[in-house]
Amino acid sequence: MTYSRIVGTGRYLPERIMTNKDLEKIVDTSDEWIRTRTGVERRHVCAEDQTTSEMCIEAAKVAMADAGVGPEDIDMVITGTTTPDLIFPNISTIIQHKLGIPACTAFSLEAACTGFIYALSTADKFIKAGEAKCALVLGAECITKLVNWKDRNTCVLFGDGAGAVIIKPSEEPGIISCHLGADGQHKDLLYYPVGVSKDLASAGTDAAGIMMTGSEVFKVAVRTLGSIASKTLEDAGVTKEDLDWLVPHQANIRIIQSMAKRLDMPMEKVIVTVQDHGNTSAASVPLALDVGIRDGRIKKGQLILMEAFGGGFTWGTVLVRL
Ligand code: ACO
Repeated sequence: MTYSRIVGTGRYLPERIMTNKDLEKIVDTSDEWIRTRTGVERRHVCAEDQTTSEMCIEAAKVAMADAGVGPEDIDMVITGTTTPDLIFPNISTIIQHKLGIPACTAFSLEAACTGFIYALSTADKFIKAGEAKCALVLGAECITKLVNWKDRNTCVLFGDGAGAVIIKPSEEPGIISCHLGADGQHKDLLYYPVGVSKDLASAGTDAAGIMMTGSEVFKVAVRTLGSIASKTLEDAGVTKEDLDWLVPHQANIRIIQSMAKRLDMPMEKVIVTVQDHGNTSAASVPLALDVGIRDGRIKKGQLILMEAFGGGFTWGTVLVRL
């Protein structure tokens, strides 16, 4: 049986860093509140004229160099994002063209903060089916462009960035299993109020920003992620003790800590970037993965559980041996 394997990773973060102290000057908040309630200390914010595809291209170049592949080797590009450059063409075609990748399957998908997990799972299926030989998979957001900077409930949480992985076929796993889920019943707890076919023209630039009932999102996230993580391990026939690393979505340090507790993992075995990146939505998991690999903590052959939860609600896990 053919599996897919991650053979390279990369990341890009915008130059501009906004600290909690900077936010104290914009909204009624404090560094102390933000740190204790969320774990965030700073976040990267893209420039006004910077697009998500530009960040993706930088992250992709690093991942391609890491994997030792050139543009001509890649035959699939999938990007998980909520904040593409344009409504169409889809962002993956922009990335494909600008990187000089020959014509190939290229599409984007939107699953809010779970976008990268959905994208990686989809690419894994193409590789396993023999329909792709080398996939560039990205999770990226300019989510601060959707933020209402007057709303202290949300503006302190988010940051921008792009993460990329290259996956290729392998006789050995690789990606062991992917579990995806979604349930629209809680849609009113986390959403953006304007879309292409809903109120876009009338809202103009005055859209109210990200709408979130944070405490309720928190509860459902902890409950859902806990049960999907257990199911992932059970289905793969591995135990909590087998896991070397948890690479979670970086929404809130308290959600991350509760997941670690549920998996009996000390925080030393959890990759945490929320203090430096904030919640970068679909970019958060590939950014954290790249950080953990490049600083030498995550090593080849180790077993990693990646997980994410986001608007929709959507959620997902990928269990992978590096
Ligand atoms: N500074 C100071 N006070 C604040 C701030 C702020 N930035 N934001 C809110 N508060 C106040 C509130 O107004 C409230 O005051 P009140 O009691 O006088 O009404 C108080 O702090 C407590 O507010 P809560 O919302 O109950 O605070 P909570 O402890 O739940 O923390 C948070 C809020 C950080 C948003 C948390 O609920 C959370 O992280 N939720 C999950 C977010 C998440 O996982 N999102 C999913 C991914 S996002 C995506 O998919 C795009």
